[in-house]
Amino acid sequence: MDSKIILKAKPLKGEITVAADKSISHRAVIFSALARGESIIKNLLAAEDIQSTCRCMKNLGVDIQERNSTLVIKGGGLQGLKEPNRVLDCGNSGTTMRLLTGVLSAQPFFSVLTGDHSLNQRPMRRVIEPLQLMGAELQGRQGGNYPPLAIKGGKLKGINYSSPVASAQVKTAILLAALNANGVTEIWEPEKSRDHSENMLAAMGASIQVDGLGIQIQSGQELSALEFLVPGDISAAAFFLVAATIVPGSELKICDIGVNPTRTGIIEVLQQMGANIKLENQRTIGGEKMADIIVTASQLKGVKIEGEIIPRLIDELPVLAVAMAVAEGESEVREAGELRIKETDRIAAICGELGKMGVAIAELEDGFRIKGKEQQLQGVRVDSHGDHRIAMSLAVAGLIAEGETIIGNAEAVNISFPSFWNTLEKISR
Ligand code: S3P
Repeated sequence: MDSKIILKAKPLKGEITVAADKSISHRAVIFSALARGESIIKNLLAAEDIQSTCRCMKNLGVDIQERNSTLVIKGGGLQGLKEPNRVLDCGNSGTTMRLLTGVLSAQPFFSVLTGDHSLNQRPMRRVIEPLQLMGAELQGRQGGNYPPLAIKGGKLKGINYSSPVASAQVKTAILLAALNANGVTEIWEPEKSRDHSENMLAAMGASIQVDGLGIQIQSGQELSALEFLVPGDISAAAFFLVAATIVPGSELKICDIGVNPTRTGIIEVLQQMGANIKLENQRTIGGEKMADIIVTASQLKGVKIEGEIIPRLIDELPVLAVAMAVAEGESEVREAGELRIKETDRIAAICGELGKMGVAIAELEDGFRIKGKEQQLQGVRVDSHGDHRIAMSLAVAGLIAEGETIIGNAEAVNISFPSFWNTLEKISR
């Protein structure tokens, strides 16, 4: 178990890239495996969660090779997977497990999905319920809600489903099952979640229509193999957006970041708080928007957020709490109860750990309330709770704390951003 020591930072300066987009990387691997022919994926995220997806796909008989730092996947079509002769281990990755549950429900064989201690405590009913409505035979612990999951795949039928949660994982699991089901499937979301799956399926030639919060997909159409370029992950860039905003005198350029509007809630809220963030060199590659982001330090004011913005910045809320801690006045996050069922209970984790550093933060059932600038942050011993985003958020808090911040279980960053500590060191010199 590694600890990392963070000291109060000098101005952060320079030009960086960050880890590749985790959501797009999972999808590129899984969708390529279901396509027919050779797909080429450039800049795939090299981190533990994507290794979990690749490992599972290899155990399903998919040919995945690395050539000159690009990944080449030979897809065998929608029915080209093979029955695995071992349990599929999704590690810490909820996206791997939920997306594969959708894929495997519609394959003509038996499979079992498991995960690490954290993942095996995360709810799966949200994907199991719609898949059962499609005719899938699925079992799991505690009445089917928790992994390990046992899947007896078979013939499914299209459904018309209104999801109670705005979850891209649920949406994508249904879309993946729908590709192999009979007839048309319609999905409705309460709010718009990230739409990388819709973009990728359309680019691969699937018959998919999106109309506001509704999606319609026709089954049975083969996907065409593609060449992908995965953009930098805005969820990884978020740590540096906040860091450069709150460390006085900072000026940072973060290059090649995915700025799909279903993901840019963090930029909008930081700007609303008074952050100085500009997008340059905007372009669209493979149906996804990309840009370079320039951020300079500025004074922030408190903000209240809830509603449709929440799914557009759900993974950034722990680091947004750090920005709120140094903002003038009170901030509040509501309707973010989903945070409690991520890699850890992120509401409890961030409130507990920032509280130890002297932040006036109150835990609410569905969010938190922060009185900004109440007290100078103090460097103390804190813990990541084994959660990559909590580890990186605490590192950002450490940059403005007096004294040493010691982050326990710092190796958690390897889940999504293995070079995080090196990147931080590079701009702190
Ligand atoms: C993801 C969707 C979100 C997000 C997660 C990645 C995805 O989860 O929090 O980190 O790639 O589809 P939910 O679908 O549970 O909201």
